[in-house]
Amino acid sequence: MPGERYPPRNLGLEDLIAVLVSEHAIMKEGLRRAKEATERRDFDSVSKALKELDPIFRQHIADEESQILRLLISKLGVKGAAEEIRVFQQHRPIYRLMEKVARLANLPTAELEADQTELNALFDEHTAAEELHVFPRVASLQKKQGL
Ligand SMILES: [Fe+2]
Ligand SMILES: [Fe+2]
Repeated sequence: MPGERYPPRNLGLEDLIAVLVSEHAIMKEGLRRAKEATERRDFDSVSKALKELDPIFRQHIADEESQILRLLISKLGVKGAAEEIRVFQQHRPIYRLMEKVARLANLPTAELEADQTELNALFDEHTAAEELHVFPRVASLQKKQGL
């Protein structure tokens, strides 16, 4: 599990959301750098950029699942939070794809570029869903119900 061994950061909800949003930008930048490195055929830099992202991504997922998702499920139930559960279920496929891209960078093939394009698109879609839908929902629940 990518979130293993990363205990939740002890932040209030508002601060946690601000940190998560800033990490989206950091991770998008890292993925963009990795993609540019592939285009330059600089495969060492691809591996390096992804290696740097790994602990950020794992801590990030751990916090989203242990804090944000838990709050949503506790307030809305599994059925009420179905859409948010669907968004968070993208963590494992994204992480697996990131691991695959890192592996391919050590043995570059034509697949590397296609998988990286897919990874970056999936990551953009995922973070947009969180920022536009999941985080505002949990923040408004907190305001209404004092989570
Ligand atoms: Fe996420
Ligand atoms: Fe996120």
